[in-house]
Amino acid sequence: MRAFSSLLIVAAIPAVLAVKTHDFKTCSQAGFCRRGRALSARAAENPSWKSPYSIDASSVALSPDHAAFTAAVRSSIYPDVKFGLDVRIHDDGVLRVRMDEVDGLRQRYNEAASWALLEEPKVSQKIQWSVGKNGVRAAYGPKNGVEVDVTFEPLQVTLRRDGKEQVVLNGRGLLHMEHFRTKESVEKSKEGVEVPEEGLDTDENAQVVLGAHPRTAWFEGDSEDGWWEESFNSFTDPKPRGPESLSVDIDFPNHGHVYGIPQHATRLDLPLTTGEGAHYSDPYRLYNADVFEYLADSTMSLYGSIPVMYAHSADSTVGIFNAVGSETWIDVGRPSPKSTSSHWISETGILDIFILPGPTPADIFGQYTRLTGTPALPAHWALGYHQCRWNYISSDDVRSVQKRFDEEDIPVDVFWLDIEYSEDHKYFIWDKRHFPDPVDMIHDVEAIQRKMVVIVDPHLKRTDDYPVYTQARDRGLLVKKGDGQTDYEGWCWSGSSAWVDFFHPGSWDWWKSLFKVQPQGDQWSWVESTVDTGIWNDMNEPSIFNGPEISMPRENIHHGGWEHRDLHNINGMLFSNLTSQAVMARTDPPKRPFVLTRSFYAGSQRFGAMWTGDNLGTWEHMAVGVKMVLANNIAGFSFAGSDVGGFFGNPEPEMLVRWYGVGVFSPFLRAHAHIDTKRREPYLLDEPYKSIVRDMLRLRYSMLPVWYTAFREASVTGLPVVRPHFVVFPGDENGFSLDDQFFVGGSGLLVKPVTRKGATEESVYLPAEDQVYYDYFNHNAYRSTSKGKNITVPAELHQIPLFIRGGSVIPTRERPRRSSPLMKHDPFTLRVALSNEGSARGELYLDDGETFSHRDGKFVWREFVAEKPAKKSKGVRLSSRNLAAQKPAEAVDQVALATYDSSNDFAKDVAQVRVEKVVVLGLAAKPSSVTAGGKELQWTFTPGVAASDKKEGTASVLVIKDPKLSITSDWEILVQA
Ligand code: GLC
Repeated sequence: MRAFSSLLIVAAIPAVLAVKTHDFKTCSQAGFCRRGRALSARAAENPSWKSPYSIDASSVALSPDHAAFTAAVRSSIYPDVKFGLDVRIHDDGVLRVRMDEVDGLRQRYNEAASWALLEEPKVSQKIQWSVGKNGVRAAYGPKNGVEVDVTFEPLQVTLRRDGKEQVVLNGRGLLHMEHFRTKESVEKSKEGVEVPEEGLDTDENAQVVLGAHPRTAWFEGDSEDGWWEESFNSFTDPKPRGPESLSVDIDFPNHGHVYGIPQHATRLDLPLTTGEGAHYSDPYRLYNADVFEYLADSTMSLYGSIPVMYAHSADSTVGIFNAVGSETWIDVGRPSPKSTSSHWISETGILDIFILPGPTPADIFGQYTRLTGTPALPAHWALGYHQCRWNYISSDDVRSVQKRFDEEDIPVDVFWLDIEYSEDHKYFIWDKRHFPDPVDMIHDVEAIQRKMVVIVDPHLKRTDDYPVYTQARDRGLLVKKGDGQTDYEGWCWSGSSAWVDFFHPGSWDWWKSLFKVQPQGDQWSWVESTVDTGIWNDMNEPSIFNGPEISMPRENIHHGGWEHRDLHNINGMLFSNLTSQAVMARTDPPKRPFVLTRSFYAGSQRFGAMWTGDNLGTWEHMAVGVKMVLANNIAGFSFAGSDVGGFFGNPEPEMLVRWYGVGVFSPFLRAHAHIDTKRREPYLLDEPYKSIVRDMLRLRYSMLPVWYTAFREASVTGLPVVRPHFVVFPGDENGFSLDDQFFVGGSGLLVKPVTRKGATEESVYLPAEDQVYYDYFNHNAYRSTSKGKNITVPAELHQIPLFIRGGSVIPTRERPRRSSPLMKHDPFTLRVALSNEGSARGELYLDDGETFSHRDGKFVWREFVAEKPAKKSKGVRLSSRNLAAQKPAEAVDQVALATYDSSNDFAKDVAQVRVEKVVVLGLAAKPSSVTAGGKELQWTFTPGVAASDKKEGTASVLVIKDPKLSITSDWEILVQA
């Protein structure tokens, strides 16, 4: 957020939102976006429009194994400029298309992918390109159903599946790479060129005339619009390198919905920005920015950028990842109800596009996260409740907040310190007036197996008594001004500040050494912290109060001579990347790091969690936060949440309670508040609000096994932790635009957090399948149909609509504890929600929750299965199996285990942990016996609706009490009826 007086009391959010839209550009205020949109307008007006870009057929060079090819590309409007194309297909069918200017005045920025990608992907050895008369083509996949055509003239890339077009690059001819030029050369060319009288840009002669007259290449506008210098508000961007923007159209024929490109406060199913039905007038913007009091419905940029877009229809999902690090605008249109167009306009960079062939949502997530990495498996405690505010003002304040939580029996895992812990906002340096004993304070928190997270922002106060700043300065690690020599100076929380250039490899080891808790000789290090202290990286867009658009001047220079404009959207990721490495390097062997970042890019999921920044305490912001978290989840970055309560404002109790309802179903659960708000820790609430919030937090804690299991899956497969309907039911058209209800991992839990004031009931959509859905709390059985069904359910303040899909087994731990590590040896409850067919399955993943020993096979991964003991039986056989033995290769991130030992150290540690209760929903008849290992168990049965009845009403409930079975071993319970 922006600097403003802390005396200002933000008591209520004004009705008129205070976003300073004038601080941020619209497309028409950015020269290259104007040029890009003008290009698409020209193309749309002209029916005979044809892309001037073509491949020189004679230049096509296949790699020796025919797995990739390169070719020379020309544009008829600049025949003397050379471009090179490189096309390849990876092992998993992902197609990568790269284009760059060849022998230009300088190199375009070509490093975005190297920061985003986990590693250089392997080119398939199996797929063969063949060169034809009109283009190069390859076919692959099952029955060679996927075909890629790269045509020579015009240059166009088309991916078809089963004969149907899926993704088309440059199909509308909007590809344009502005080549490097000097002002002088442009002036010169003007002098030398004869301009025909009939005008230069009429539709009829456009191609011909423009080919001969570069000076009027209206691909770049009719004038040199915004080429050499641009002003915005009081800022001037000198643009010493001139125009170098990149435009490309990427269309998705046969797909009527698109998702992705976070971060925007908008719907998940992206509303259109052009053409008929456009909801917005400006394109979606990706330019990481600190937007004060952002709008809850807008295409404006926010703190992070992930340039991945998925297109979806009932029978296909495809996607593209555009590895670009500069400011990018994306127009989305719908030329026909079942087709989507997109137009990407970037300020700088090479063309580097990955086409993800799908064909299912699960395939897409696999394809995208094989490129940019799956989300890191977080420490288990990080899934608990995080209590933050700006600020807990002293060590004693922290201790007393912790005490109050314990007095009120409210679970919490983490206490956070915002910027005021530091002396004059010199991060790492404690303000000893208020925090005289920081290590003791942290130890007091850690004594209850809780953790602290402390903020470290990227702006370094420029003062000689701040060793972090002086070391960075003396080592030459600071970002430079446009002259490439002088350290850049800007204004942030710490006043006059400088920024470390994390693109500079020299900064990496140095940054890591700062976080060491042992003395490092002459080198300053954070001895006044602990190895378990987590780190919060904020303001890393970077936010600069006196900079253009509250950020860094674009002409600033980073390592390698790149301008800030080239890599702006990647900048924030490097900060959290290095911080997470630093946190890991504190111990040997390392522990899983916890780092929260505000700014992010493709790949940031490998380094920690994100949150949606400075939201407002309004119902609109509460609701859009759910959508934003879903958007991040499908874009690979699952560990996401919004400030519970809203950052600005003082939520009334009803709103705060509902916000906890949202929070306990967010992958990342943190309450946070602005410095000028009233304290609102849950223990301060009156009744009944306090008890409701306590119950909600206990519900979250009871479900930690479900969340952790979902995180394991995400960390291996890239499947999101929270999954919108189109992901789980890709064929159900009713669900394609749903973004206010979702599933938790693969558990079968369906939730609709309530985000409406005064709500007493909610409408919930049950997916198109003939299946039973049980109310989690009262076991009411609802039935969906093959067409889907809307049901209305009670949603009083204490209620969260939560359902278990028939066919699921949900493992929970139901003993209230003060913090999650205290649950480590707690027993489990299994909720077995029978399907129509009388079966169910579920998973449970456990490990030590903090080290990387799971990579060495120290974990427990179980499958619970319910099936009929015999075809016509009304009973059920419940069994627990070792999943790790069945699918070891999928067991843990990045490591395929050849052998899994079920008596590994971790499994031994939890071998005594029991299943203390099994609840079976929807059994068809009262059991005659319930046995395990031949011994009768204790049980009760409440008659009710059976899953197989296909009726609605309270389900039958069988409760098996303490069957004395270990969570780690194979067992069987036989229910005869
Ligand atoms: C930024 C953050 C906010 C934090 C504040 C002070 O506005 O988004 O969460 O409290 O800075 O550090």
